[in-house]
Amino acid sequence: MNAAIRAVAKVGAGRGVEVHGVEGGYEGLIEGRIAPLTREAGGRLLPERSVDLSLGHGGTILGSSRSEAFRTLEGRAAGAAALDGFDGLVVIGGDGTLTGAHALAVEHGVRVVGVPASIDNDVGCTSLSIGVDTALNTIVEACSRIADTARSHHRAFVVEVMGRRSGYLAMSSAVTVGADAAVLPEQKRSIEEIVASVERVIRQSFEVDDGKRQSLIMLSEGVELPATELVRMLNERLHDVAGVEARAIVLGHLQRGGSPTYMDRMIGGRLGLMALAALAAGVSDEMVAWRPSLDGGVPTEDPRVLRYSLERVISESAALVDGSSEVVRRRLQMMESVEGVLAL
Ligand code: F6P
Repeated sequence: MNAAIRAVAKVGAGRGVEVHGVEGGYEGLIEGRIAPLTREAGGRLLPERSVDLSLGHGGTILGSSRSEAFRTLEGRAAGAAALDGFDGLVVIGGDGTLTGAHALAVEHGVRVVGVPASIDNDVGCTSLSIGVDTALNTIVEACSRIADTARSHHRAFVVEVMGRRSGYLAMSSAVTVGADAAVLPEQKRSIEEIVASVERVIRQSFEVDDGKRQSLIMLSEGVELPATELVRMLNERLHDVAGVEARAIVLGHLQRGGSPTYMDRMIGGRLGLMALAALAAGVSDEMVAWRPSLDGGVPTEDPRVLRYSLERVISESAALVDGSSEVVRRRLQMMESVEGVLAL
């Protein structure tokens, strides 16, 4: 997110726009915690870092919050009042943040443009959100370390990754870490079906004569079966297979931090820049999207970035989560077509 903040602050400064930063997300907005986002003030917001140096850090130098107050009409009215005297607002965040931004625009006429940021990749209309690439690279690195033990000690590992209700991280990492299976909420499988299919995959890895005698299973946190519980059930069922021992790893918040990848910095910077350009052109209640595959987007000066109304983004995000989105159907079809061969 810092790459997007930096782009807005620096390009703004270059174009003579006075850019301020809201500290602490919507909670900070309600409390009016707003400070100039200049090179000096970037230092004041976080003394040891300027907006330039913040590029190498994950998270956001402005701080964030999950604000309950902003879900209320009164909270949003206070937020809108704090913006008195400002021409527009760039918000950076996931589904909740963008829903709040849409409400600000509709209820109070605040000029607002959204930038998608969430490791879950569950924001509609954009093919990637800020943070996804860094999280995936972290998962790939963690799995390659885990695979060393799996290979040497002939173990089966279930690796639980984040994603809230979206299986994107589990699905995308499975194909890139050489996993034998991915278990996703979108598959809508019962617990019994999940346990049986993972057991089958592990048996195949350990029982066949020339079997590899190791296994890696990616499990999305959105599946209502925690890795530890799945592994307990698997170990019970697999006791007849000589030498099989399964272990659970929950990667957790490791996936949310760390120095952002090239891709995340580049996407963040380009989306931030186009968000500022959109506000300057009088646009409101829209989100800038990275390489979307949906029709109806408005082109920007950046050929990879299109704009969509926040209303459409919010409804596409809901469709991603409830599985009715064409994008999810396509991803699932691809997953099904490779599922049988992953474990070979
Ligand atoms: O939405 C991002 C995310 O990291 C999810 O993947 C995860 O479920 C959640 O946030 C974790 O939130 P918290 O830090 O509040 O536990």
